[in-house]
Amino acid sequence: MDVYQEFIINVKRLTNIDLSLYKEKQMRRRIESLMKRNNMPDLISYFRLLKQSEKHLKEFLNYITINVSEFFRNPAQWQVLEKEILPHLTSNKKTLKVWSSACASGEEAYSLALLFEKINYNKVEILATDIDDEALKAARLGIYSEKSLVNVPEDLKRKYFTVKEGQYEIKDEIKRKVKFKNLNLLEDEFPANCHLILCRNVMIYFTEEAKDKLYRKFYNSLADDGIFFVGNTEQIIMPQKYGFESIRSFFYKKINYGSSAR
Ligand SMILES: C[S@@+](CC[C@H](N)C(=O)[O-])C[C@H]1O[C@@H](n2cnc3c(N)ncnc32)[C@H](O)[C@@H]1O
Repeated sequence: MDVYQEFIINVKRLTNIDLSLYKEKQMRRRIESLMKRNNMPDLISYFRLLKQSEKHLKEFLNYITINVSEFFRNPAQWQVLEKEILPHLTSNKKTLKVWSSACASGEEAYSLALLFEKINYNKVEILATDIDDEALKAARLGIYSEKSLVNVPEDLKRKYFTVKEGQYEIKDEIKRKVKFKNLNLLEDEFPANCHLILCRNVMIYFTEEAKDKLYRKFYNSLADDGIFFVGNTEQIIMPQKYGFESIRSFFYKKINYGSSAR
């Protein structure tokens, strides 16, 4: 077994994160850059450091999970969501279950909450999950830089954020609409009966084998006719293979097969 494989097994034991399901080249590059930053000569010494130091373990998890996000990321897709997808989902007035499945510091989940406010639909439960506890902590805090709000319409910005020393804090009435929870997409059970699932800008880090499993899990997690919303570079190659019908770029609808399980 090579040293990298051994490192991966040790990291899995320590953190329950299986790096073998993340694209190897990219992951190696990130790990090497962290090792350099910490003057670590090899993976064995670096793993020793991770085991001994909470601070370095946090740095490691933070760096490999890549938390970059912003409100209404790729605004054109959010327009499609608002104008073409939500009118169908909200048409029979049921309580919608929405899941932001790699929510980073909450920007995506709060964007959903803002959008539902905007269309004045409050029968909605928003669950937001991520593997990274630090990101979830920031999400619950709900304080953002002006830069991450560039796509937030002025009226929503004025109504739902408080400005404090150049930072924007989302108001409690929006915070209350989102429930944050730790969930590892590669290990944990998925919530059931979701009407809308967002999984954006995380699949790009996973191997083909991991993606294959995840698409099946997302299918099972959706309610009948549920919608799966993916990131801008993450179109599904053969959606039918997973029981999805492409209805717009980046939006897939669950095909229902009656009671026969896939
Ligand atoms: C680039 S951010 C995407 C945030 C948001 N969805 C967006 O599109 O702006 C990727 C997020 O995926 C999370 N992530 C990485 N691996 C994960 C896993 N196995 N399970 C759940 N979340 C994971 C990271 O912690 C990070 O917050």
